[in-house]
Amino acid sequence: MTKKIGLIGLGYIGTTILDAINKEENENLIIQAVYDIDKVKMKEIAEKYPSIRLMQHLTDFQDCDIVVECAVQQVVADVFDEIVKRGKYFVPMSIGAFISLPNLFSKYQKLAEIKKKNIILPSGAIGGFDCVETIKLIGITSAKLQTRKPNRVFRNNKYIKSNNIKLNENSSVIIFKGNAKLATTYFPRSINVAARLALSTLGPEKTSVEMIADPSISKNIHTIEIESEVGKYTFIFENNPSPTNPKTSWLAALSSIYTIKTI
Ligand SMILES: NC(=O)c1ccc[n+]([C@@H]2O[C@H](COP(=O)([O-])OP(=O)(O)OC[C@H]3O[C@@H](n4cnc5c(N)ncnc54)[C@H](O)[C@@H]3O)[C@@H](O)[C@H]2O)c1
Repeated sequence: MTKKIGLIGLGYIGTTILDAINKEENENLIIQAVYDIDKVKMKEIAEKYPSIRLMQHLTDFQDCDIVVECAVQQVVADVFDEIVKRGKYFVPMSIGAFISLPNLFSKYQKLAEIKKKNIILPSGAIGGFDCVETIKLIGITSAKLQTRKPNRVFRNNKYIKSNNIKLNENSSVIIFKGNAKLATTYFPRSINVAARLALSTLGPEKTSVEMIADPSISKNIHTIEIESEVGKYTFIFENNPSPTNPKTSWLAALSSIYTIKTI
């Protein structure tokens, strides 16, 4: 049966999904409807893909089976209840919302297992969740993320400025150590990876995050360490930027497409 997708957010990730699904002529998936707050982007899509319906508002997805969010965190909160109520599948890309917006994490946690299964969190710029889910059968004792990024990523960060942290052009500097909740507050742009790990492991307060500004690298490197009675696991993700959008890891955009295809 063909599954119909409602796509919210027509920026880099949204248009990557749109083009990928349309290019493939995949019989099992179609983009049914799209929405963006930017009306110019809506018009462009209407011209390029005349058969796609333009949604009139954020929750105008009644004819869709899957709602994919690739806009901003607030949109996740704004559509969450309607999606759960109407029993749609939901693929949220701005998953930092589950940690940084009040109530969303507890709402998600409290969902009945059968409804939770319809909320499908893309692995984004990291991975290894098959192993994580497996060892959860026994329990996770520690979950740590170390994110290493080039200095330029942090130069205009408010936390760095207000804490008078000096970046060094010759050696790496630890700029933050704390939990995922604080990391998402101080480094909102790195929020998705920390949130994704926290949601699948020990939650926002018990998942540790260290952030390093490294002048010697040009890509984003995420190292995850998970400890459990089952064993100790280390994953390293060295992400190249997307060829068409240097601000985003290529893996993150691809993961949104892969996730939709698995539904
Ligand atoms: N999960 C991950 O690992 C991961 C990785 C990269 C990006 N992201 C997140 O995915 C989201 C999309 O990323 P992107 O690179 O495509 O961003 P983008 O800035 O290129 O596109 C965002 C789009 O959303 C639209 N938008 C903004 N507010 C809206 C609203 N209220 N309603 C409808 N549309 C709205 C904008 O007009 C824009 O077209 C971001 O929140 C980003 O943080 C997640």
